[in-house]
Amino acid sequence: MDVAALRASLLGWFAAQGRADLPWRVTREDGQRDPYRVWVAEVLLQQTQVVRGRVYFERFLTAFPTVQALALAPQEAVLKAWEGCGYYARARNLHRAAQVMAREGVPVTYDGWLALPGVGPYTAAAVSSLAFGEGRAVMDGNVRRVLSRLYAVEVPTDAWVQGTADALLDPARPGEWNEAVMDLGATVCVPKRPLCGACPLRAQCAALASGEPARYPAPKVR
Ligand code: ADE
Repeated sequence: MDVAALRASLLGWFAAQGRADLPWRVTREDGQRDPYRVWVAEVLLQQTQVVRGRVYFERFLTAFPTVQALALAPQEAVLKAWEGCGYYARARNLHRAAQVMAREGVPVTYDGWLALPGVGPYTAAAVSSLAFGEGRAVMDGNVRRVLSRLYAVEVPTDAWVQGTADALLDPARPGEWNEAVMDLGATVCVPKRPLCGACPLRAQCAALASGEPARYPAPKVR
């Protein structure tokens, strides 16, 4: 696998075809994403599709435009703004974490984010890469599917997916790389009937070469 060519293909595709209009993808002066928006979006999108998630996101950000506003809000107001998003424990954790950040400052590293209430490896990787340029690869179902196909690995383990994602991640542009993999998995490398003709990685994809890309990854045995 030519990693440099792979990165160039995916990042070129992302610049042209990525979902640039998502409301949490606003860029600050330094070219990075806003950590508060990325954090709220990642927590929300853990249980909500992007189409509905963006509506809830706008509502939540209108109610609490900054981490300080969220920290100072009464808990009832936070739960009210979370209505429809399910799992109120997530809203309570957002509120508690905002209070920690209002006191101690917004963390700028993966480890700092991971220490906040309700923040797991996925969210910590997303925020630290998108907003602070740390070289952390996100791993979720989309990433797992994209990599399983790229290498034609039918039963990828979490350790394999994370290791492969870490090795492919462009260390010069980790946030863009993570967003590009998310977008590829959501719009092209979809579970059924992937749109391989439109895929920037088609020349490198082992699953496509096998003739049956949708066979990867094998359904999980539960
Ligand atoms: N799904 C999870 N996180 C996302 C993000 N930051 N952008 C688009 N879709 C996502």
